[in-house]
Amino acid sequence: MEEWWRGGVIYQIYPRSFQDTNSDGIGDLKGITKRLEYIAELGVDAVWISPIFSSPMKDMGYDVSDYKNIDPIFGTLEDFDELVDRAHSLDLKVMIDQVLSHSSDQHPFFLESREGKNNPKSDWYVWSDPLSNGSAPNNWLSIFEGVAWEWEARRKQYYLHNFLVCQPDFNFHNKEVQDWLLSTVRFWLDRGVDGFRLDTVNYYFHDKKLRDNPARLQSVESVLVNPYYMQEHIHSISQPENITFIENLRVLVDQYEDCALIGEISNIDLMAEYTKGNKRLQLAYSFELLGTEFSSKHIKDVIEYFFEISPNGNPCWSFSNHDVIRHLSRWSEEQDSLTGFAKLTAAILLSLEGTICLFQGEELGQTESDLDFEELTDPLGKRFWPENKGRDGCRTPMVWNSEKEYAGFSDVKPWLPVKDSQLKRASYQQLSDPESVLSFYKLMLSFRKNNKELRNGKTTFIDIHEQILAFSRKFDEKIILCVFNLAKDSIKLKAEGVECANSQITCGVKFSNNLLKFEPNGFIFLRANSGNTIFKVVN
Ligand code: BGC
Repeated sequence: MEEWWRGGVIYQIYPRSFQDTNSDGIGDLKGITKRLEYIAELGVDAVWISPIFSSPMKDMGYDVSDYKNIDPIFGTLEDFDELVDRAHSLDLKVMIDQVLSHSSDQHPFFLESREGKNNPKSDWYVWSDPLSNGSAPNNWLSIFEGVAWEWEARRKQYYLHNFLVCQPDFNFHNKEVQDWLLSTVRFWLDRGVDGFRLDTVNYYFHDKKLRDNPARLQSVESVLVNPYYMQEHIHSISQPENITFIENLRVLVDQYEDCALIGEISNIDLMAEYTKGNKRLQLAYSFELLGTEFSSKHIKDVIEYFFEISPNGNPCWSFSNHDVIRHLSRWSEEQDSLTGFAKLTAAILLSLEGTICLFQGEELGQTESDLDFEELTDPLGKRFWPENKGRDGCRTPMVWNSEKEYAGFSDVKPWLPVKDSQLKRASYQQLSDPESVLSFYKLMLSFRKNNKELRNGKTTFIDIHEQILAFSRKFDEKIILCVFNLAKDSIKLKAEGVECANSQITCGVKFSNNLLKFEPNGFIFLRANSGNTIFKVVN
């Protein structure tokens, strides 16, 4: 049987901002359940729900204090069961986020661990004595706030935190920790989930010897705003022992039917390594297309390189998520008339080989919200403001209906504001407009679903022009050619022996007498009548 995730599309829900039903200004599980029909109608295969577990919410749920419970702001375990049942009845798979590398400092195990060196949980986190001069045991840095070590006076030791001070790292070298974490995963499998997004999957283990990380060869000026990027993290993360743990996790999920693991991995080589063979992760979630570069060369280089080192690997691509500036704002200076660019990027993303993740609101052509410092909730933004405004701008509430108060998200003031520029891109208003971004996503999702070549075909890039992204996708001798104009100008191409594969999906391209005239943001899907198609640029 074909696995649902292979070539499938997953819709990422950020629960705090999806739909509020209990009038506290924060989204909840009942809200998600209420909107599942909308998601199913988009034509995706699954949802991935960002963390919903008990948490002090210092990192919005990525700091878990009870791995087997739902945080009351989101609802109850019964609400979760209802959500899963409803999703399954709509033929949607449910994936949840598992934050295994660290817990909240309010987790009972950490509260116990920090009390002393001789209690049952003392070795469950990464503790180290200070150096003789009192400083931290090594030079490791935290992504979120400077040094990765925090002093604990009760133990007279430092503990490791790769993220916030309140997110202590578990000690994976302790087998009891591994077994217990696996038992929490089993808890959710038994409740019927279809897979997991594994947060920071290469952060599980650290070097037991606590060796210093070497410097990265780059100047201080080129460091964005965070010294973290001045080190090669060869000892603090991505340790070889990770693989064994991942294989054990796979053995566990394989006991359940059709269950998938997606690991969040910020490096193509590791993506290949972690998905090699069929005993590790099924899917590797990539960061490569979440950065500032949007060019045909970049997309080609990333995808070609991945499949070169991992011909049978399964990447998972996305352009937006809850950690980065929304792609329309990241890649376009224009913020008003973005419809053409939104459709272009949707068409590219949904033509790529691999699994695709869409982030809530992306289907509406949403842009990043411009927030004031006082409106921020994200510790990262507060820490690095104004150079880095943090992640609140992509996490603002879903805009369901521009005529309703708070855009139909909540009937009270939401935890993050709904701004006018987001209000313009509401879902309800787009549903009845066949030219809207939302209508285009639906068309494109159904096009992908109904064309094996697009969903599962192998990719070959075609060099035509530096600003034209072109590739073929081939499945069972059937080929579809995907051609996109990324230039700010029109480009004319001559192509013999091709025909338009779907005129409804074509945007900004005139095609007659073998001549293809692309407007900026124009794209077309073509079928070749025979043999290799030769494209030529016409001046
Ligand atoms: C999540 C972030 C989170 C971090 C720490 C990430 O990769 O996507 O939102 O802050 O892990 O858990």
